[in-house]
Parts: sequence; structure tokens; C-alpha cells
Amino acid sequence: MKTPIFDFVKNYNDQNQSRFHMPGHKGVPFLGCEPLDITEIDGADVLYSGDGIINESENNTSKLFGSLKTFYSVEGSSLCIKVMLSALSLKFKNPYVLAARNVHRSFIMACALANVDVDWIYPKNYTHLCSCNIDENDLETAIKNAKRIPDAVYLTSPDYLGNIADISAISKVCKKYGILLLVDNAHGSYLKFLTDSLHPLDLGADMCCDSAHKTLPVLTGGAYLHISKNCDNDYIDVCRRAFKIHSGTSPSYLILQSLDLCNKYLATSFSQELSNCVDNITALKTRLAENGFAIEKSEPLKIVINAALSGYLGTDLCEQLKKYNVIPEFYDQDFIVLMATPQNKDSDFEKLLDALLSIKAKPSIKRETIKPTYHKRVLSLRDAVFSPQEVVSLADSVGRICGAATVACPPAVPVVVSGERITENDIKIMSSYGITHIDVIK
Ligand SMILES: Cc1ncc(COP(=O)(O)O)c(C=O)c1O
Repeated sequence: MKTPIFDFVKNYNDQNQSRFHMPGHKGVPFLGCEPLDITEIDGADVLYSGDGIINESENNTSKLFGSLKTFYSVEGSSLCIKVMLSALSLKFKNPYVLAARNVHRSFIMACALANVDVDWIYPKNYTHLCSCNIDENDLETAIKNAKRIPDAVYLTSPDYLGNIADISAISKVCKKYGILLLVDNAHGSYLKFLTDSLHPLDLGADMCCDSAHKTLPVLTGGAYLHISKNCDNDYIDVCRRAFKIHSGTSPSYLILQSLDLCNKYLATSFSQELSNCVDNITALKTRLAENGFAIEKSEPLKIVINAALSGYLGTDLCEQLKKYNVIPEFYDQDFIVLMATPQNKDSDFEKLLDALLSIKAKPSIKRETIKPTYHKRVLSLRDAVFSPQEVVSLADSVGRICGAATVACPPAVPVVVSGERITENDIKIMSSYGITHIDVIK
């Protein structure tokens, strides 16, 4: 597979041109990467406007993922989420979405900006902020109870704890009612390359975003917006318009090259290396389980330890792991989440196993788990986000209306969403994530 962006920049740099154009570093290495950091000079194409090397590279990605069109983002899935929601605004009058509640905070801002009306779908068993395991029956009930047939359903899958929704079954319900299915697949680019693809596009999603940088060897910020072949062609222009509304005008060519180069890897050795990595992770999970650690069922590249069932608070277990120079992706009082890819070395897995076997699992501890709140909305997301606000301490916020969705990052899933009334229960959860203040409506 060709790498047109990477080749162009390399060639440009090799020619030793005098750079009387931006960026101001002129290719002189300060950080080290500057020689390859260019701007939209002749031949470099224009992100979302041209039909040159960027478009060619995006089309290569599109072939790899089997999409109608894939767009690159150098501003993460956060930008792609804004684009998906704005695409609804460009297509539908007063767009209305049903969304599983465990959204990333970018979804809230995206809806406020695009003036999208949202109702939440809560699972029957709502036990953790990060997870909202709804099935096709929950969705069908939500559609029947909704104020009207929504224009789109929005899911986050995989979630931060590695749960994957049954997108096949859910997409059948969406098709039955003629509703678009949009998926935040930020954690799941790699799912396409498993022996049996679990990628949302292959399971019936109409659009999804993938943070390539989370699970593929791509620089931070590199992401894809995929449009499925199920969609009308006009979604390509609609999404292009939405990208132009939300994106900056100085895309990072370092990130674009990284996305471009990744195509070659995906087209060649990635599937095999992924398969080996999944085998390593599965073996590691088995060893940990044999040694008393409670390992949650999860998507293949995550190792999710249920801390309390393994005898610890997640925060304490994480502190212990850090002493062994093992740094997890996410931890809270309940869970530790470790993410691996084929770019982890065998020695990383050995270090993790040695660390946990030295720390040792203990008998499970009993602790009060605070379940997330089922909220009532007082103001629309848009009205709340754009209302005058003030910052108050958590203790003073009970009964006030949330202004800005307050999150700990990771997981960046809001405990209370803009426009919802703050409860005592919310305070407990926010405190457990170290949040001390919150923006409320004046
Ligand atoms: C579930 C989920 N969606 C979206 C995002 C935003 O992705 P990005 O950081 O690529 O903008 C994140 C980031 O952590 C995430 O966890």
C-alpha cells in the first residue's frame, strides 16, 4: 500500500528547500521532529478541501476499513464526534438522538454546538459511570418511549472498561425504525483486524469514529471518521462541511504522516501481530486469574482488574503498580484498566505479570459501591452550556443545575451533564474522582 503523504514530506525534506513558509521553525530540529513538520504548501493537499495526497491516503484507509469514505482527523475522535452530530444538524431539522448515557464529554459539547436534542438510554443494571450495557430490547423500549422516532442512536463501544455492545442486534432495531446508528469506537480501531472483525462498520453502524492513536501506532490526535457503505453518498459532502465548520486550518502533517504510514502496517503485518498480542494478553489474564486476581471480561486488548474482588482499592493497587514502573491507562476505586498493543514488548508483559504476582491478590474487600444517578433534565444541553455560569465547591452544588459537564479525565465521562440537577449521590461519585468544584448555572 502506498504512503503518499509520508513520501511527499520525506522527498520535500530531502531536497533541502529554503522554507520561506510556515511553520516558524523552518525545519530546524528543536524537538527533533521539525524537519518533517510542514504546512499546506503546493503539492501537500488541503485537509477536507483537496483531492491530492491526503485524499489518496484517506482512500487507502477507506479500502482497509471497507468504508464508503474515511476522513482523517488530527484532533482526535473529539473532532469526529462533533462532525457526526453536526452532520445530523445539516441533514435533519431539529435533530433528536437517543444516546447511551456513558458518553465522552465531547458528545455533550458536540450536541450543544450543533443544537441536537438528546434523551439518554440507561441500562437496567447501571453500576458504573463508564458502562452503559444496553441491548436491542432496551433500545426498542427506549424508542417506543421516546417523544418521537429519533434521527439517530448513539453508542459508546467499546467503553472504558472494555465492554462491547451487541452492535449487530442494535443495528437491526435501528434499521427497522429507519434510524442512523452512530458509534463512538474511539477505543476500537483495531477491532477491524481481529480474525473475525468486531469493528462497528462491519456490524451495521452507519458512522463511527476511531481514535487511531489509542490502539494503533499513530501519533496522539490521529483519528478516523468512517462513513459506512450503508449511507447515501451525500453524507460524504455533509461530513466534509461539518469538518470545515469545526476543524482548524493548520493540520499537523506529523499526525497526517503517521496516519498515512499506519495504512501500510495495517495492510501488511498488523493482523498477525495483533493475533499474537491477543494470545499473549489472554495467557496473561489466565495467569492472573489463577493467582487470585479478578479479571473482568473485556475486549481483547484491555486487561481490566476488578480491584475490590482482588483485595484492593483500585487507587491503592495502581500506586503499587507504579512502584514497579507499570503505568495503567485508567484506574478508579473499583477498576484498573491496562491497554496493550503489539507495540508492547514481551518484557512489558513479563514486568506486569511479575509486578502483580509480587503484589499478590488478597481476599476480596467489601466496600460500598456508589451507583451512578438516573438524572432528570431541567434545561436542554445547549441552553445549559451557553447560560451564565459560576464555579462552586461540590458541597455547595447539591440542588443546583450543572453548567459544564464535570469529568475526571480519564475516563472523561460526565457524572452530571449540563442541564441536570446535581444530587448528593453525584457529589459522592465526583469526590471519588478527585473533583472538588463544579460549574453551575447562575
Ligand atoms: C470513549 C471515548 N470517546 C472519545 C474520546 C475522545 O477521543 P480523542 O482523545 O481521540 O479526541 C475518548 C478519549 O479518551 C474516549 O475515551
